Amino acid sequence: MTKMPFAEKPFLNALRNLAPSPPPIWLMRQAGRYLPEYRAIRAGCANFLDLCYSPDKATEVTLQPIERFHFDAAIIFSDILVIPHALGRDLTYRDGEGPRMTPLRNRSDLLSLTKTGVLDRLAPIFETTRRTAKALSSNTALIGFAGAPWTVACYMVEGQGSKEFNAVRRMAYGEDALFQELIDILVDVTADYLGGQILAGAEAIQIFDSWAGLLPEKPFRRWSIEPTKRLIDKLKGRFPDVPIIGFPKGAGPMLSAYAEESGVTAIGLDQTAPLGWALKEIPSHIVLQGNLDPALLLVGGRALDDGIDDILEKTKNRAFIFNLGHGILQETPLDHVQQLVERIRKSRI
Ligand code: CP3
Repeated sequence: MTKMPFAEKPFLNALRNLAPSPPPIWLMRQAGRYLPEYRAIRAGCANFLDLCYSPDKATEVTLQPIERFHFDAAIIFSDILVIPHALGRDLTYRDGEGPRMTPLRNRSDLLSLTKTGVLDRLAPIFETTRRTAKALSSNTALIGFAGAPWTVACYMVEGQGSKEFNAVRRMAYGEDALFQELIDILVDVTADYLGGQILAGAEAIQIFDSWAGLLPEKPFRRWSIEPTKRLIDKLKGRFPDVPIIGFPKGAGPMLSAYAEESGVTAIGLDQTAPLGWALKEIPSHIVLQGNLDPALLLVGGRALDDGIDDILEKTKNRAFIFNLGHGILQETPLDHVQQLVERIRKSRI
């Protein structure tokens, strides 16, 4: 661990396990409905997927939070569910209801997935990536992303968001051979998709495993760690130098096994992961990211300052990427985001 001054891309330096001071910052869901300029573009789109597949608009939306707050990294504007969509599932997003698709429940549903031509259907996202990479200044990095196979399978089997995802857990435990086939398809397609993003200019990758926390130890190893490891092995074979951030939300004490076994460069901590514990239990070659409760950003003021200072103090001797424990909440006031960025940037030691 070396303390070093401002360098060209502090975000990538942190991922090299250097410790830029102040730490680099970006926020999950930094492009989204809390921004008036996002809502304006979104209002002009027939639907959300239309925005994801319009390189012009998606590039503009990707850059909006960078222009406003000068975050250290941009994340390509898209969604984790473009993969099931490219596999032929009938994905729609209804306002206020989240994503919907016909649930995948049996072998004939699985056989109907259209694996050929997937990358062609995702080409608009590679175009967004190329345009964004070109537009970014020399100190801002570009993050590509995908959902982890488990989390994407959760939405495919359930057909929509859920608190408990009982249908997917029933399949994972009761029809594990069928579920394994679905996961295997997702590992292959996601590796190709992320490879395409890297070729188009993504400099780091984040894998969102938003529903990892639903799984007890043994299924966590089989359905979260193992497929993520295979995905990462495939990417590392082609792109050994591209850092990979894993975000197994809600993993609790399984974070350390995930950090040690999946092959990630860095690990995202949700706000329920005790930071002191993570600093001790997660090996020091793994970079840490996240942990600020999105609700503190909603509240602002003294509560936000204290939350920021606590994280800065605890992580001062380790490579760290400042972020929230989950996506920014829609009602978050813009000046609280400004307050956060200013406080981090003033914290240089
Ligand atoms: O700025 C960024 O972070 C990049 C864009 C991004 C979106 N979704 C845009 C989006 C990213 C990285 C995601 C990831 C994503 N999508 C996850 C993993 C992170 C997490 O939140 O756990 C998941 C589970 C999804 C699936 C998804 N997409 C849901 C459940 C919803 C509906 C909930 C909601 O917030 O409306 C979406 C829609 C979505 N994806 C929106 C945005 C900006 C809102 C849609 C709109 O503008 O109408």
